[in-house]
Amino acid sequence: KSGGTARLKIFRGDAEGGEEVDYEIPLVEGMVILDAVLGIQAEQAPDLAVRWNCKAAHCGSCSAEINGKPALLCKSRVDEYDGDIHVGPMRAFPVIKDLVSDVSWNYEVSKGITPFQSDEQAPFTMYEEDVERLYEPKKCIECFMCQDVCHVLRTHHKHAEFAGPRFFVRNQWLEMHPMDNQDRLHDLKEDNGLGYCNITKCCTEVCPVGIKITDNSIIPLKERVADEYYDPAKWLMRKIRGR
Ligand code: SF4
Ligand code: F3S
Ligand code: FES
Repeated sequence: KSGGTARLKIFRGDAEGGEEVDYEIPLVEGMVILDAVLGIQAEQAPDLAVRWNCKAAHCGSCSAEINGKPALLCKSRVDEYDGDIHVGPMRAFPVIKDLVSDVSWNYEVSKGITPFQSDEQAPFTMYEEDVERLYEPKKCIECFMCQDVCHVLRTHHKHAEFAGPRFFVRNQWLEMHPMDNQDRLHDLKEDNGLGYCNITKCCTEVCPVGIKITDNSIIPLKERVADEYYDPAKWLMRKIRGR
């Protein structure tokens, strides 16, 4: 930005390729990047594609990249950035157009996770501490920024073998729910690629709702998988049971 003007370099293109295009827009007090993008769309580039919904950091729709890092466009103030501001789509997923990427792979991963099943009928009676522990993973707004930043997907493209941090959060919610009767540890190890995560914590750093993804979801799941599969006594029992 310079003086009263914000300078944005916005990716324009699609799956075939594209390039950054320069735009300038008058700076308004408190303006967020989404305001600037929508202003540009209204006055200069009517065909500029951007996805958004709530403008309040609640829906997770406006996730994109600012200066190469995932961010919610509606939560990122223009005056937090110096100089030119580069805005592009999330890179761990296929680009549809401009700032919009195709995140549907995430919904396919979600479908593969064993759903909640219980021997009891809701409403459940639970300890308060259990309810509190279940609250954090439920805050997820499915912005998929953690998926975008994780090098296993972003750099190594392990989409076929790795569910990604968002779905470790989901698995952890299911696994620690005291009323759930399913066991997802085998799937986490074999299908969801939990072992690929080497605890870089980049996912936790970008989560807009402050979920401690690595400490509260991934590490507990890794510990349980290690207990189940690498404990010699349990290993022997599985051999005897033939599983
Ligand atoms: Fe977004 Fe956080 Fe949910 Fe990941 S865990 S999808 S970063 S809200
Ligand atoms: Fe990726 Fe998060 Fe693990 S960024 S490597 S899932 S700690
Ligand atoms: Fe809903 Fe940004 S528009 S999170």
